[in-house]
Amino acid sequence: MGERYLGASGRTGRLVVQRALARGDAVRALVRSPAKLAITHPALEVVAGDASDAGAVARAVDGCDVVVSALGPVPGHSAICSTAAAHVTAAGARRYVAISGAGIDVPGDDKDIAGKVVSWLVRLLSPSAFRDKVLEHERLAASDVPWTLVRVPRLVDRPGNGAPVWGLVRSPGASLAREDLAEFVLRAVDDDALIRKAPFVAS
Ligand SMILES: NC(=O)c1ccc[n+]([C@@H]2O[C@H](COP(=O)([O-])OP(=O)(O)OC[C@H]3O[C@@H](n4cnc5c(N)ncnc54)[C@H](OP(=O)(O)O)[C@@H]3O)[C@@H](O)[C@H]2O)c1
Repeated sequence: MGERYLGASGRTGRLVVQRALARGDAVRALVRSPAKLAITHPALEVVAGDASDAGAVARAVDGCDVVVSALGPVPGHSAICSTAAAHVTAAGARRYVAISGAGIDVPGDDKDIAGKVVSWLVRLLSPSAFRDKVLEHERLAASDVPWTLVRVPRLVDRPGNGAPVWGLVRSPGASLAREDLAEFVLRAVDDDALIRKAPFVAS
C-alpha cells in the first residue's frame, strides 16, 4: 500500500507515521522540514514541500492509495487545512482522512450543551482556525473524493488507553490522547463505513 502523510512532522502526524510503518505500510511524508520528522525507516520516503503548494501536493498524491492529513494551523498558514483539502481533491486522491475539531458542526449532529458551548468558544476564540476547518469540510463534502474528517476535542500527550471511543452525532469525551488519535486515524483509513463521515473521537 502506498500512503501519503501531510503534516507528518507535527505531534499527531509523527505518531501516525510511526504506527503506519509499524503495521507495514509504505509511507511518503510531505513535510516542510525533513529534519524535524526525525524518523528513519526503509519504508519511509520523506519529501520536502509545503502543503499549500498545489504542485507539491499533486506530486505527493500521485499514485497513492490514501492521503492522511495531520496538518494544523501554524503562524502564517491559518487556512492550511482547507487549502490542502482543495489541493488533495483537485489531485484526485483515492481516499482522504484528515483531522478536524469537535467544535465544527456538520449536518446530522446532535450536540449536547457542552458540545454547543465548545463550538461557540472555538468560533469566538479561534475564528480563523474555525473558518478553515468549516471550509475544509465544505470542500470535501462538495468533492467526489472518499473522505473522513476525524473530529477531536482537546489533544493531550499522555499515553493512550488503546481504546478510543467515538460517535457520529456528539463528542463522547472532552480530551483525546494523541496516541489514541493516531490509532483511530489508521482505523478510519481502513473503514469504508466512515467514508463521507465526520466521527467524533475521545479517549
Ligand atoms: N491541539 C488540540 O487540542 C486540537 C483540538 C482540536 C483539533 N486539533 C487539530 O488536530 C490536528 C493535529 O494537531 P496537532 O496539535 O497534533 O498538530 P501540530 O503539532 O500543531 O502539527 C501541525 C502540523 O502541520 C504542519 N503544517 C502546517 N502548515 C503546513 C504547510 N503549509 N505545509 C506542510 N505542513 C504544514 C506543521 O508543519 P511544521 O512541522 O513544518 O510546522 C506540523 O507538522 C490539527 O488539525 C489540529 O487543528 C487540535
